[in-house]
Amino acid sequence: MMNLKRQILVTSALPYANGQIHIGHLVEYIQTDIWVRFQRMQGHEVYFIGADDTHGTPIMLRAEQENITPQELIHRVGIEHKRDFDDFLVSFDHYGSTDTEENKLLSESIYIKLRDAGLIEKKSIEQAYDPVKEMFLPDRFIKGECPKCSSKDQYGDSCEKCGATYSPIDLKNPYSVVSGAAPIKKVSEHYFFKLSDPRCEAFLRDWTQVKTPLQPEARNKMKEWVGTEGKSELGDWDISRDAPYFGFEIPDAPGKYFYVWLDAPIGYYGSFMQYCKKTGLDFDYWTNPSSSTEQYHFIGKDILYFHTLFWPATLHFSGYRTPTNVFAHGFLTVDGEKMSKSRGTFINAHSVITSGLNPEWLRYYFAAKLNSSLEDLDLNLQDFVARVNSDLLGKYINIASRSAGFLVKRFNGIIAPQALAHPLLEQIRNASSEMATLFEEREFAKSMRLTMELADLVNIFVDANKPWELAKQLPPESPSLTHTKLQEVCTVTLEAFRLLTIYLKPVLPKLATEVEKFLNIPELNWQSIHAPLTVDNAINPYQHLMSRIDTQLIEKLLEANQTPA
Ligand code: 2FM
Ligand code: ZN
Repeated sequence: MMNLKRQILVTSALPYANGQIHIGHLVEYIQTDIWVRFQRMQGHEVYFIGADDTHGTPIMLRAEQENITPQELIHRVGIEHKRDFDDFLVSFDHYGSTDTEENKLLSESIYIKLRDAGLIEKKSIEQAYDPVKEMFLPDRFIKGECPKCSSKDQYGDSCEKCGATYSPIDLKNPYSVVSGAAPIKKVSEHYFFKLSDPRCEAFLRDWTQVKTPLQPEARNKMKEWVGTEGKSELGDWDISRDAPYFGFEIPDAPGKYFYVWLDAPIGYYGSFMQYCKKTGLDFDYWTNPSSSTEQYHFIGKDILYFHTLFWPATLHFSGYRTPTNVFAHGFLTVDGEKMSKSRGTFINAHSVITSGLNPEWLRYYFAAKLNSSLEDLDLNLQDFVARVNSDLLGKYINIASRSAGFLVKRFNGIIAPQALAHPLLEQIRNASSEMATLFEEREFAKSMRLTMELADLVNIFVDANKPWELAKQLPPESPSLTHTKLQEVCTVTLEAFRLLTIYLKPVLPKLATEVEKFLNIPELNWQSIHAPLTVDNAINPYQHLMSRIDTQLIEKLLEANQTPA
């Protein structure tokens, strides 16, 4: 592992400002947060930046429907999003919005640099238009009959009944979701980012295939797009939308707006710029191509090409550094199926809290399932209960609850320092570099498994030494060999508990803080592995640290997410 102090900028994808955070989103925020907290524990300089993604047609129409301004909608949803992130202990250093002055200026200046580099081209295109509402219609706003199976009310891109995919012009009897009118075709001028320009092709081929250690699946996918020289599949990217549109107007083009997917990733920088202004951090240094800083974007696999093609090209050709890497994850299924509103498995983040579930249970479960691949992961509700109860309660918390009482009652909470050299503790300490590598590589399932294997060893040690028997053998006050052994056994056990807490802290930060108070020790970081319990700090009486999951809570959760029929 590198020991140098690294400078790391990290983002999670920006959630749209017209919807609630659900547990599918949480996979990503929790994954990013675990990684960020791990890096902070290493002593690195890390900034975790987020923002709401606020522009585009759906947000404009949603606000209109609710009879409020888009700004009012953004404000309300922003507050809910922040509440949910706080509840799940997602530790953003700054959480902004894409609808800010900083983002506007950045988007404009980036656009102008791309234009001046000869990478913007105007082309006239024909699109579906709602003649009543007088607006162009994105595909999702056109419905009609499936061209294959004739099911009614299907979206313009795919049929939910038969699974066929097609383009909106193929729909039979199409209508606008906004006004109900039949769409007409209308031509308008659009602005394109010329990704097919030989400079872009060459840059992206190098960036995706050579320079960036993308996940193998991601690299292969990108290979299909960037192809080989002269044979690329890269099309030019339409970055403009016509009024009415909620977004930033393009500087030299009245009535034309930046497509939301142009200013959304720029929003990572817009939000970071706000943070830099607030804290005095040097934005130019952090975003400069020659900077030694690192920049990582955690995203879902569905938005890979925005982050590994459009975003790096946007940055590179406007004079900024490009991401060090992009980390994509798979989708969340619940009980093996796509989340579904009718089955109550489309679970809102807030409902987890209001149903009385501890957010750290979910953090642990996701950690226990996450790896560095793009594979989907499943939240199996039965397994969730069993896993949390058996691992966190049965294996980990159990260690402390079994020994703390004796140490406090019999020894005033003071450890036996000679026991700190016990081989079991050495074994747990020795796992630290493997553990660090697993966290660094986002192999959280493996790091949790390793932690639980170590917890098993500690429990075997407790079972073999039976502190409760030792305690029974002699009256509490009498100094004797048995007495010393009891103190030593409890010392090994509690020091082991302290070490395991370090390994769990990126995942269970709140619990770790409680453990710090209980053990009467300073904030744990990765260096604390070598700072064992001492005779100078008496541990406090054991206080309940975490409860078991009661299955009734799961029933409550499913009920809370059941949409009325
Ligand atoms: O897919 C989404 O939910 C987008 N709002 C993600 C944007 S990420 C970034 F590019 F802004
Ligand atoms: Zn169909």
